[in-house]
Amino acid sequence: MSLLEVRDLKTSFLTESGEVKAVDGISFNVEKGKVLGIVGESGSGKSVTAYSLMQILSNPGKIIGGSIKFDGEELVNADKKVLRKIRGSKISMIFQDPMTSLNPVFTIGNQLIEAIMLHTPRNKAQATERAIEMIKLVGINDPEKRLRQYPHELSGGMRQRVMIAIALACEPDILIADEPTTALDVTIQAQILELMKKLQQELGMAIIIVTHDLGVIVTMCDEVIVLYAGKVCEKGSVDEIFYNPKHEYTKGLLRSIPYGSKSLGRLIPIEGSPIDMMNMPKGCAFAPRCSKAMKICLERQCEEVQITAHHSAACWINIKEAIDKEEIVPVQANET
Ligand SMILES: Nc1ncnc2c1ncn2[C@@H]1O[C@H](COP(=O)(O)OP(=O)(O)O)[C@@H](O)[C@H]1O
Ligand SMILES: [Mg+2]
Repeated sequence: MSLLEVRDLKTSFLTESGEVKAVDGISFNVEKGKVLGIVGESGSGKSVTAYSLMQILSNPGKIIGGSIKFDGEELVNADKKVLRKIRGSKISMIFQDPMTSLNPVFTIGNQLIEAIMLHTPRNKAQATERAIEMIKLVGINDPEKRLRQYPHELSGGMRQRVMIAIALACEPDILIADEPTTALDVTIQAQILELMKKLQQELGMAIIIVTHDLGVIVTMCDEVIVLYAGKVCEKGSVDEIFYNPKHEYTKGLLRSIPYGSKSLGRLIPIEGSPIDMMNMPKGCAFAPRCSKAMKICLERQCEEVQITAHHSAACWINIKEAIDKEEIVPVQANET
């Protein structure tokens, strides 16, 4: 059993102008102590996936189907009590902009100590001691002084470190990080990622890292899922995705890494406009932008095709290649 098992998760925004299927039937596992990356362009459903896992969707967002099991326990439609228990102590989350989650009117110490007392059985003195340890753990000097400061007195990188400390206060099994370094400059980004990796290894927790940056994936992850228009295009180990991509969208993403960039490559956008979530095409959502699109791509969404035991892709090109090589004759071939 995996630590987290997500099956056919569907999250929609039921807006006045119609249903936006932001997450449309995605499945993945997170293993204990491993790092999973969720990558895709802006608007592909990465944050909505993260928020769905935490069940902190704001109106009119709603999980309309599927299952999220943590350690075997179902979280979709679970009791508020169960959710509070898991959210507080098993799964925690850090966001892109720490200012939105830090309270400007309380000191860092106040917020960190409160988080520790809320999630672990420590009294004020013990929690203060722990807060000092945690500030050191996330690589901030002069912890006693920092605890007395307010969020605005710290730099962006320092605030993100504080957010990591708060998220780790409950000693979570899974840390979800939604674009945790996007708002920071490149040097600080690398430092924060390094810190997260170090903590992950020391504490043995799993991380789900949401990013549009393939450099972050390479630096951080064991496994990766590639999202497009709320669906999983491809998933597998980082090596398989980078060296043997099997979805045309993934190939496009990889081509979009600036040539010669060693790390933290920003994506050059793939040609064609991103998907209009209100008017989804009938077939593969990427087909209108895909240079290899076939007739069937415009008509039907491809099911996940297993490439190897830990690598799958939902792209008709695999079926065509397999047919051409006479490896398999898919059922679909009879229908088209
Ligand atoms: N509050 C909302 N109301 C309606 N649609 C939303 C809302 N939030 C997100 N969406 C839709 O969900 C899609 C996925 O959003 P999101 O998960 O935030 O993308 P990203 O991959 O950039 O994190 C967006 O393209 C948007 O259409
Ligand atoms: Mg996002």
